[in-house]
Amino acid sequence: MAQSSILIVSIFVFFILSTTARRFPGRTLLLDDSSSMSNFTFVCDPSRYVNLGLDISSFRFCNSSLSFPERTKDLVDRMTLSEKVAQLGHRAFGVARLGLPPYNWWSEALHGVSNVGPGTRFDDVVPGATSFPNVISMAASFNEAMWKTIGQVVSTEARAMYNLGRAGLTYWSPNVNVVRDPRWGRTLETPGEDPFVVGKYAVNYVRGLQDVEGTENATDLNSRPLKVSSCCKHYAAYDVDNWLGVERYTFDAKVTEQDMLETFLKPFEMCVKEGDVSSVMCSYNKVHGLPTCADPALLKDTIRGDWDLHGYIVSDCDSIEVMVDHQHFLQDTNEDAVAQTLKAGLDLDCGQFYPNFTEDSVRQGKVSVKNIDKSLNYLYVVLMRLGFFDGSPKFQSLGSRDICNDEHIELATESARQGIVLLKNDNDTLPLDTSTIKTLAVVGPHANATSVMLGNYAGVPCRVKSPIDGLSEYAKVNYQMGCENVACKNDTFIFGAMDAAKNSDATVILGGIDLSIEAESLDRVDLLLPGFQTQLIQQVAAVSKGPVVLVIMSAGGIDISFAKNNPNIKAIVWAGYPGEEGGRAIADVIFGKHNPGGRLPLTWYEADYVNLLPMTSMPLRPVKSLGYPGRTYKFYDGPVVYPFGYGLSYTSFTHTLVSANRSLAVNLDKTIQCRDIAYEDTAFKPDCAAALVDDLTCSNEFEFEIKVENSGKMDGSQVVIVYSKPPSGISSTHIKQVVGFQRVFVDAGGNESVKFKLNACKSLGLIDFSGYNLLPAGGHTIVVGDGDVSFPLQLSFHGN
Ligand SMILES: *[C@@H]1O[C@H](CO)[C@@H](O)[C@H](O)[C@H]1NC(C)=O
Ligand SMILES: *[C@@H]1O[C@H](CO)[C@@H](O)[C@H](O)[C@H]1NC(C)=O
Ligand SMILES: *[C@@H]1O[C@H](CO)[C@@H](O)[C@H](O)[C@H]1NC(C)=O
Ligand SMILES: *[C@@H]1O[C@H](CO)[C@@H](O)[C@H](O)[C@H]1NC(C)=O
Ligand SMILES: *[C@@H]1O[C@H](CO)[C@@H](O)[C@H](O)[C@H]1NC(C)=O
Ligand SMILES: *[C@@H]1O[C@H](CO)[C@@H](O)[C@H](O)[C@H]1NC(C)=O
Ligand SMILES: *[C@@H]1O[C@H](CO)[C@@H](O)[C@H](O)[C@H]1NC(C)=O
Ligand SMILES: *[C@@H]1O[C@H](CO)[C@@H](O)[C@H](O)[C@H]1NC(C)=O
Ligand SMILES: *[C@@H]1O[C@H](CO)[C@@H](O)[C@H](O)[C@H]1NC(C)=O
Repeated sequence: MAQSSILIVSIFVFFILSTTARRFPGRTLLLDDSSSMSNFTFVCDPSRYVNLGLDISSFRFCNSSLSFPERTKDLVDRMTLSEKVAQLGHRAFGVARLGLPPYNWWSEALHGVSNVGPGTRFDDVVPGATSFPNVISMAASFNEAMWKTIGQVVSTEARAMYNLGRAGLTYWSPNVNVVRDPRWGRTLETPGEDPFVVGKYAVNYVRGLQDVEGTENATDLNSRPLKVSSCCKHYAAYDVDNWLGVERYTFDAKVTEQDMLETFLKPFEMCVKEGDVSSVMCSYNKVHGLPTCADPALLKDTIRGDWDLHGYIVSDCDSIEVMVDHQHFLQDTNEDAVAQTLKAGLDLDCGQFYPNFTEDSVRQGKVSVKNIDKSLNYLYVVLMRLGFFDGSPKFQSLGSRDICNDEHIELATESARQGIVLLKNDNDTLPLDTSTIKTLAVVGPHANATSVMLGNYAGVPCRVKSPIDGLSEYAKVNYQMGCENVACKNDTFIFGAMDAAKNSDATVILGGIDLSIEAESLDRVDLLLPGFQTQLIQQVAAVSKGPVVLVIMSAGGIDISFAKNNPNIKAIVWAGYPGEEGGRAIADVIFGKHNPGGRLPLTWYEADYVNLLPMTSMPLRPVKSLGYPGRTYKFYDGPVVYPFGYGLSYTSFTHTLVSANRSLAVNLDKTIQCRDIAYEDTAFKPDCAAALVDDLTCSNEFEFEIKVENSGKMDGSQVVIVYSKPPSGISSTHIKQVVGFQRVFVDAGGNESVKFKLNACKSLGLIDFSGYNLLPAGGHTIVVGDGDVSFPLQLSFHGN
């Protein structure tokens, strides 16, 4: 089957290459040979050239007084065609006669340095790296500054591992696909369902990984230094992994221009324009029949043209092979396919198609060497910005002590705490009090979770603290598994869990799902707890002596209405997949060392939702003719278990509006035309209904200040989420959309002022059905949180 063979290729591509590549004469494999890599300094190290018996002064690409583009041009111009194509796969073979070493482009660092990519490995020199919460959990903190700090720590560990010869400099993270459908298997890798939040996560994490302090604002983006190189993936409309046999490799996404710009491309646009990311990865799927990696409109015109990428575009692993062997795109030969992708703007192949077939493709006249040269120049500028050629004195001293140190482990713990969401807390049952709770029944398939908390794209963690480890710090734990695993096919273990609950002062049930239910290449078919888990929870709750707390580990939402409605279950906590320190974080929340402040980064739909529409239907808006409901909080207003942005605290907060701009006058030059915008009810429609954002200078900003008071008895953090609602009457637009958010810590009894200054075009603009970005006139509404503060904002055009 296509699926299994591709998976095998993806997983073993590294091993296949490492055995076959040795047959190429003159190509040595330094990178995967630690003994030679561990003393690698940088390409243009003069003593290296002496050792290699080469005269460095004859190589202009090593002359650091020239610009990077001048140097890369010199390097590329020296290569023969076959030398050039040997550099176009993720395993670049190098050119020994030029002193250019091999380099493996594929490393991963989604939530910590990972060994999923062959460019990175762990062994006795570097036994592990800090494993942060999975992205869906980090997103739940709604803490931009922390996302960036985590990126900085991950890149510090990556640099240290690079110095030790254990990692590369180019990381294919983060995953910034929007979670369009609750069944998606890769939800754990992403920041959730809102394109703006996903984009903000991307910008902060990418800047954390890439930026070198003091050079963040360098204006020459071709020479701006990189700490490590980051990559936003998978571009674009990559939305089905494997749902009832529909696979990502052949899935053809039918996407409207409106959804494409508004939802699917938005985070990528922010990642490139605001994050200045140095790479974008195209996806496996097709969009309207065209494989994304072969689509010049998506790659060359949009990423490089409109967004002005400074970096390289890489394929998902074996995408070109998928195009030929599984999609049978245009009945392409291998040589046709590499020509199409090169011309579309794909610079690097994660795989073997470019190195194997590009030379023949050129000889057959299908693609010109100029296309190859352009791509190679993009690639080498990135390596030069990384110091691969000239060294990085700033990071040279990083080593073992900079990996898994106390500070990094503490950040992993704090980010896990901040990502935990309190969903229910009847009668202020939580936090539990150690003076009355001496014994604790800890039951359920995730009670002793270890690797489950690491999710996917994880490396080897520094250590793992399970919930049992964490809770044991506070009370005597009576552990009973309740179910042998998340599938929970056997109800015989429930009795032991019930006994523990009967005989303990309080009960914590840890359930949920894991990678056997939601994963890459595995979408969900329902939103329920598997097997006998519901029964376990209900039976334990029925007999428990003390209060019952339910902790759910999952990325996607689960319909736990039964628990929400069960008066015996006093509290519910969503822990996501909280990373290596997850058990400590969960315990710190349950016993009140940490007051939870996380918010759901996606809607938790009722189970029936997935029966209303197939996962393969791409529209975000409801499809009335087919009876499909809308998707995400922006377009769906039906019943939910918990809404996007939901999350409780142990204290209570109030919001007051201190001041706000309530009107905006946008100047329209005489030459600018008013644009029409469709209204359901034209009675509301202003004379000049809208203007094209591209026609405006977009300098108008509006400001407001909110006072957040902590009126409860415990210090805590409040996430202030700001939405805009378009003027009423506009046809088929979003219900509301996030335009800003801040997480603020407020002492008990104290208050903090939270200020927002937002750009009118970015916050009030919308994409119409034909794909135009319009700024509508009329009465917009700004809503804070659940709506306890909201105010109107009147926008009018002047001057034409
Ligand atoms: C690295 O060290 C080994 C011996 O330890 C030596 O043979 C090799 O030439 C060195 N490589 C470089 C690039 O200096
Ligand atoms: C480096 O390039 C500059 C500018 O072209 C030149 O003046 C200088 O001599 C070169 N240095 C070396 C070592 O070739
Ligand atoms: C870069 O610009 C940002 C935003 O204007 C500013 O906060 C920061 O201090 C600047 N950094 C440097 C090193 O100038
Ligand atoms: C690429 O070439 C190598 C070496 O000949 C071969 O082992 C490998 O199977 C080829 N891969 C593909 C996808 O053609
Ligand atoms: C718990 O709260 C419910 C309603 O929220 C209330 O009816 C009940 O009396 C409370 N129980 C206790 C023990 O305070
Ligand atoms: C929890 O799991 C770890 C590793 O998976 C195992 O070593 C340990 O014995 C388990 N703890 C209990 C209480 O079963
Ligand atoms: C359930 O587990 C018990 C205890 O290990 C075992 O005796 C029984 O056969 C299992 N039942 C099923 C249906 O697997
Ligand atoms: C918004 O309010 C601020 C503070 O009151 C004021 O300085 C600014 O001029 C106002 N801006 C607009 C566009 O009205
Ligand atoms: C807000 O906090 C300040 C101190 O930070 C205090 O002076 C003021 O009274 C507080 N205001 C309210 C309304 O609580």
